[in-house]
Amino acid sequence: MDPHVRELLDLLVRWVHLIAGIMWVGNSMLFNWLDRNLVKTPDAKDDVEGEMWMLHSGGFYHVVKQQLSPGQMPSILHWFKWQSYSTWISGIFMLAIVYYMGDGAFMVDPSVSAISPNVAIAVGIGALVGGWLVYDLLWRSPLGKGRTAVALSLALAGGIVFLLTSLLSGRAAYIHVGAMLGTLMAGNVFFHIIPSQRQLVAAVEGGQKPDPAIAWQAKKRSIHNNYMTFPMLFIMVSNHFPGTFAQQFNWLILGVIIVAGATVRHWLNIRFNFPQWRPALAATLVVAVVLLFGLMQPRKAPSRHEDASHAPVAFAQARAVIDLRCASCHSAKPTDPSFLQAPAGVAFDTPEQIMRFAERIKVRAVLSQSMPLANKTAMTPDERTLLGHWIDQGAGVE
Ligand code: HEC
Repeated sequence: MDPHVRELLDLLVRWVHLIAGIMWVGNSMLFNWLDRNLVKTPDAKDDVEGEMWMLHSGGFYHVVKQQLSPGQMPSILHWFKWQSYSTWISGIFMLAIVYYMGDGAFMVDPSVSAISPNVAIAVGIGALVGGWLVYDLLWRSPLGKGRTAVALSLALAGGIVFLLTSLLSGRAAYIHVGAMLGTLMAGNVFFHIIPSQRQLVAAVEGGQKPDPAIAWQAKKRSIHNNYMTFPMLFIMVSNHFPGTFAQQFNWLILGVIIVAGATVRHWLNIRFNFPQWRPALAATLVVAVVLLFGLMQPRKAPSRHEDASHAPVAFAQARAVIDLRCASCHSAKPTDPSFLQAPAGVAFDTPEQIMRFAERIKVRAVLSQSMPLANKTAMTPDERTLLGHWIDQGAGVE
């Protein structure tokens, strides 16, 4: 596809994805919060499960959660499903536009594994489909109850994180774990929540009492979705942080994020009847931040030539490396066929541009080594050391 068209598509689909995702997650948060704050007053009727008053945008809202008696179906009933479907569909389009089209440069990293981009794409799609099948079967099976099921789900998530980070580029591995969580969430809506709701509506319309087991089935999957939101939202922004995905311990960092994100969600969910939630939340945050601080330490710059570490590096030497390894993409007119413009607006055509970005060059090419992209231009460790020294010595252009 023409890179210009691809960039425009990426922009539009990303925008839709963000809007739909905010609406979906917003609904999920609001309804979970509602459920935990509804109050059943002593004089409430039997069919009332709880009610509350809210104040928003200058108006008072009275919400009542109640069971419907047979035949009592209201004439207008609002469903919430397109937020979820459009988030998932736009997300899949984005995977295709950013990761699968073009030459799959984001999918593979020769320093991680030697698989081809096509195999990597198959692994990524397999993780989405396989992830759903395994998760759904687990929670439908006799094992799918209580703590065993939670422990098994976390172990499976850990396994998939490890597998993907040892096959795909760190960045692609992260986004595919996120896409898998998104697929589980959308699958829960499509295969469980909405069908259960259809059954509830059909029962009321057919003059029968709705089966509470069906309502519980929908609620359970909705709670799963609620726990997945925080980790998934982190993964959505993670590609701005090579300090997470472009690390030797990227799998452990993602593991910490998933467990910490879900645990924070848990304290927030039970805070209304768990008085110690504040210390528990604070402890979770402190442990997670300390772990992340330790794990996200930049890699030691490769220093094979200890004795050369103080030898002055001339700008001409640094520039030669950048011309050779970076300029095919980072130029006003890239020669790499995947890019029409300098990626991220970063070009290294003039000494001033190179100087201006010196700090980011160090972060991306020396510390996190997440540039060149997929090491497409085969940069060597010695060249990274050389750039590091040039920057440490002040990144001068003399
Ligand atoms: C094959 C193409 C390609 C090559 C070669 C390449 N880059 Fe990049 N670069 C990208 C893409 C795509 C992005 C935007 C995505 C991202 O930030 O990961 C980017 C973004 C950047 C950014 C801006 C984002 C930030 O973190 O500040 C910097 C700086 C950068 N690259 C440095 C380098 C350096 C230094 C080299 C050479 C050692 C290099 N790149 C080689 C494709 C490339």
